Amino acid sequence: MSTFKAPKGTYDLLPPDSATYLAVREAISAPLRRAGYGYVETPGFEQVELFSRGVGESTDIVTKEMYTLTTRGGDQLALRPEGTASVLRAALEANLHKAGNLPVKLWYSGSYYRYERPQAGRYRHFSQVGAEAIGAEDPALDAELIILAVDAYTSLGLTNFRLLLNSLGDKECRPAYRAALQEFLRGLDLDEDTRRRIEINPLRVLDDKRESVQRQLVGAPMLRDHLCEACKEYHERVRELLTAAGVAFEDDEKLVRGLDYYTRTTFEFVHDGLGSQSAVGGGGRYDGLSEMIGGPALPSVGWALGVDRTVLALKAEGVELQLPAPTQVYAVPLGEEARRALFGVVTELRRAGVATDFAFGGKGLKNAMKSANRSGARFALVAGERDLAEGVVQLKDLESGEQRAVALDTVVGEVLSAQG
Ligand code: HAM
Repeated sequence: MSTFKAPKGTYDLLPPDSATYLAVREAISAPLRRAGYGYVETPGFEQVELFSRGVGESTDIVTKEMYTLTTRGGDQLALRPEGTASVLRAALEANLHKAGNLPVKLWYSGSYYRYERPQAGRYRHFSQVGAEAIGAEDPALDAELIILAVDAYTSLGLTNFRLLLNSLGDKECRPAYRAALQEFLRGLDLDEDTRRRIEINPLRVLDDKRESVQRQLVGAPMLRDHLCEACKEYHERVRELLTAAGVAFEDDEKLVRGLDYYTRTTFEFVHDGLGSQSAVGGGGRYDGLSEMIGGPALPSVGWALGVDRTVLALKAEGVELQLPAPTQVYAVPLGEEARRALFGVVTELRRAGVATDFAFGGKGLKNAMKSANRSGARFALVAGERDLAEGVVQLKDLESGEQRAVALDTVVGEVLSAQG
């Protein structure tokens, strides 16, 4: 063992489990790629201010959870806690919104960092696959993204997830609601921290999980009753489109989310097998974010799904992904001459698209066959001096135990046809 360990709140992805993570990323991005989303990659860090302005000065993410640093040159940077602000910054910087083809649809996959209290399903380094559709206000776009997320989870074989849906209103109706909510909340018996939150971000108080707070929230004004006509109409259209697509959802008027940029449609996917960290993904519309970070008005919508929690959800449901064996053929040379000959065959097989591995390190037959079995390969190729003298190698089916000699110069074709 090394004297070093992975930092608190982080973990390593190692084979064979790491294959599941790759497959999950692939499964989440596949529906996006089929729907016109292009791949975007942004740096792992940005100016702190992008997030404090974008995600929100009063959010836990900005006040407590960002990894910030000052460079030798004096720049204030933060490891990215989320992807939306960065992706929008990148799109604006490259003027993608001016290319005349709105919405700009982008997807991404990467590592994110939040200094949170670690627990099952909550890490300081985690992985998201996300999508952002920038520059269009259209209920069909909100519905498209939600449907694509549902299709991703479904393609993985997940069933115990639920979609929570809400509308957070817009700059027309939210201020009046905010004032009404603040007035109600100021009359409650709350601690200092929560009282401060009433003044900065009263909607977050609705999200307080404590029983003592929830009890007092009965009768609080709800945004649903304060939405302007345009927001109501927009939300109704999103709901209709989801219903038409066969997507079940639960209206959750207390769904606020931990980032300040949301307007109108907001949603979260929760999985019932995960305990307290049940949110496997979330997102919504953020019509004002572009202006908040110095850009033009660009109504947009997006989501991010947590890869770590999606893997935990698969485990909770007992879903085993059908992944191709990492190795299909394992070559076992007996003696120096056979090593040279088989190593050449291994290269040829790989070039022909067959996942092939080799008994490195001069293992004896017994050990090498053990490695062949452990590798999960279907076939072993075994060759010794006598085989080579006859110009053959032994092709052994590791499932049935059958073995036959095949001519050295036809091995690749034989393996390809034996694989079926
Ligand atoms: P978020 O809800 O903060 O949204 O994160 C999305 C997902 O990332 C969560 O539902 C969860 O699965 C995963 N996640 C978040 N924090 C952690 C953690 N500490 N450990 C493990 N998994 C975690 C966003 O990040 C928004 N940018 C989503 C979005 C995109 N909104 C619009 N566009």
